[in-house]
Amino acid sequence: PAPGWAIDADVVVVGSGVAGLTAALRCAASGLDTVVVTKARLDDGSTRWAQGGIAAALGDGDTPEQHLEDTLVAGAGLCDEAAVRALVTEGPDAVRRLIATGAHFDTDPASGEIELTREGGHHRRRIAHAGGDATGAEISRALVDAVRDQGLRTIENALVLDLLTDADGRTAGITLHVMGEGQHDGVGAVHAPTVVLATGGMGQVFSATTNPAVSTGDGVALALRAGAEVSDIEFVQFHPTVLFLGPDSEGQQPLVSEAVRGEGAHLVDAAGVRFMVGQHELAELAPRDIVAKGIMRRMQEQGADHMLLDARHFGAEMWEQRFPTILAACRSHGFDPVTEPIPVAPAAHYASGGVRTDLQGRTTVPGLYACGEVACTGVHGANRLASNSLLEGLVFAERIAADIAARRPWPAVAPAAPREPSLLPLIAPEERAEIQRIMSHGAGVLRSAASLTAAAAALESVYVTAVQEREGSGKTAEPGVESWETSNLLCVARVLTAAALEREETRGCHWREDRPERDDADWRRHLVVRLEPDRR
Ligand code: SIN
Repeated sequence: PAPGWAIDADVVVVGSGVAGLTAALRCAASGLDTVVVTKARLDDGSTRWAQGGIAAALGDGDTPEQHLEDTLVAGAGLCDEAAVRALVTEGPDAVRRLIATGAHFDTDPASGEIELTREGGHHRRRIAHAGGDATGAEISRALVDAVRDQGLRTIENALVLDLLTDADGRTAGITLHVMGEGQHDGVGAVHAPTVVLATGGMGQVFSATTNPAVSTGDGVALALRAGAEVSDIEFVQFHPTVLFLGPDSEGQQPLVSEAVRGEGAHLVDAAGVRFMVGQHELAELAPRDIVAKGIMRRMQEQGADHMLLDARHFGAEMWEQRFPTILAACRSHGFDPVTEPIPVAPAAHYASGGVRTDLQGRTTVPGLYACGEVACTGVHGANRLASNSLLEGLVFAERIAADIAARRPWPAVAPAAPREPSLLPLIAPEERAEIQRIMSHGAGVLRSAASLTAAAAALESVYVTAVQEREGSGKTAEPGVESWETSNLLCVARVLTAAALEREETRGCHWREDRPERDDADWRRHLVVRLEPDRR
């Protein structure tokens, strides 16, 4: 649709989690005229749901080198070591700057030092947390307060639609659809020579996920339509311990942080047997792909739909002080972890891949940057190490802001007419549940050539039906937020499934039952996707 209004800026940041708001604050601090666009409210993204914390080598005796080592092991041979090195060496100071911005982390009452916990794959206590298990909420609060205090321009309730480019293919801004009140409403444009995508993940492509409703893969879909490269999209991380609310429970599910296992909770089956012991030297604290697989295997063997997490030995006081958010979530669903083991199962949690960037966060489209979960900076490889995501958002947002500031002045933008999205049919919102069901069934924790082929065919059929309806009867889904989101979900689902089918091995969080071995000879490489113009 043609924009009905337009504003100008130096930088438009799309998304308002830790990555987006850090990029916006740092750009604004360099004197760049910055606008933040976000799909719901400023604090509605995934960041606010992060529990465990933010990993950084802050503790006595810990070093960036050890953090690097753990990150590379989790990434299963596909991390970009230079990107990981940037993450772990710049991480501690980036956390200190976050504290200077106003975030309060839990400290040891005796020493006043930041309290650190452990999570899967970390050989040390390295995870800073806030409010016990409400780290993301505190980070989000601090950054939103800073954005408001500094008077940054923000546009809430705005779904980004497409990238605008000039005649030479350089970034010239975005189109967006704003829902609601205020001076901007309906479809409009922000003209800017630099766009920072920080739109978060795509967990809603699966039926059950820890991600909030806004995580519909909009940034990856936009980047694909803009001709940017997307990489490692097959590596979807499934969090091992999500509160199991029943086989038919859909959408965002309550997370039970790895930090609960970090503090000593045990995974047991219905008979009370600790099945992770003996599977990995770190048992319940193995990297999360190993724990998720361990749980799935046990569920399969026993024909169960969940396992149990037992932390009764924490006692009421520790539960209340250390994990108040999780305790409240469990109790609101009728489970009491103080007195009983709680039911858990894996659910979609994090996209390790995304829009491919270099070390400065630049994508393959000039002027388009990406950071946070939407990006593939190379730090996660085939499997993100727990609590590295908030850190990645911080570190790479700062790198992007520095790059944008250093490359001033940017050329004035002259956006070409917005691309007519005529090649892609809009997908009706009613298809969303079907897409999610197809993905959970065929491209979930357990994948095989057969399941992925069936998923790809079913997704193709959703697409072809929409094309045929448009071409035959001229009928097409009504333009609107829900149909645009559903179209984005279908776009990323198709690309993800194709990549998962192509990668004929098991690596990191990509578990192919028909190819159970890691194959370094053929597959220690990335799958990079770029849609040709006639497929956008
Ligand atoms: C958790 O608290 O278990 C989530 C941490 C993460 O996803 O990094």
